[in-house]
Amino acid sequence: MIIFKKAKDLQNHLQICRQKNQGIGFVPTMGALHDGHLSLLTYSIAENQVTVCSIFVNPAQFNDVNDFKKYPSTLEQDIFKLETNGCHILFLPNVEEVYPEGFDKKRHYDLGYLDTILEGKFRPGHFQGVCMAVEQLLNIVQPGRLYLGQKDYQQCMIITKLIHIMGWQEEIKIRICPILRETDGLAMSSRNMRLDEEQRVQAPAIYNTLLFVKGKFGKESIGKLKKDAAERLHEKGFKTDYVEIANAATLLPVTDNEPGTDILCLAAAYIDGVRLIDNIMVN
Ligand code: PAF
Repeated sequence: MIIFKKAKDLQNHLQICRQKNQGIGFVPTMGALHDGHLSLLTYSIAENQVTVCSIFVNPAQFNDVNDFKKYPSTLEQDIFKLETNGCHILFLPNVEEVYPEGFDKKRHYDLGYLDTILEGKFRPGHFQGVCMAVEQLLNIVQPGRLYLGQKDYQQCMIITKLIHIMGWQEEIKIRICPILRETDGLAMSSRNMRLDEEQRVQAPAIYNTLLFVKGKFGKESIGKLKKDAAERLHEKGFKTDYVEIANAATLLPVTDNEPGTDILCLAAAYIDGVRLIDNIMVN
């Protein structure tokens, strides 16, 4: 695996790959890699001659300074995992490399209502920051395929929208890859590393609550389901930001079991200071 810290060096290398007609797959991450990230890598390696993974903890997408400060960092293990899993290139830029001098950090992406519901509502500015980093990274890497995890369902929709805003939909194909779970159902996430032993035991309650909603979907009213789900999380010691039942194509809340529509239940909740999110198709 080659490690590039400078965008220019990476671009020069990728230029040669493109001249050889090698397809480029890209897995953007913020490090603290787990098997979920590695599964994205595996999808990319299977479909492209060259796979680039980036590790960049993007300050612009943290609406909470403490969350940024406490974001886990395991660089040595990350490099080992990438290398042993067949990654070709690691892009490891610093902040100045992604946001060079003169970069307009106040730019605004017109993401519409997607920017202000669910994650956007509880983490104001978060998706603007995600778009800023992803636009910069895509400009540098210019991949043919981009690999994203479905755990961050709304982020997948936002990045799809970003790619349309930039007019890159012909060049960059998005691959949304399934959620990987621990054996007790907890969705894999870098933030899981911050859970202590007791919190780790509580954490699968999020997934169990989603399963509860899925099990009762169509049998109870949506309003009651959401209320019961939030209560279950509360009883398990979570502070819930939201439990929503939404149209999977638009993320707008549904009020009825709309036959023929894919419907998703999404949840975000804190165990003490650690914020976890998860989602599941319910029909
Ligand atoms: O999902 C993430 O890890 C980040 O939001 C991303 C897509 C790498 C952008 O910083």
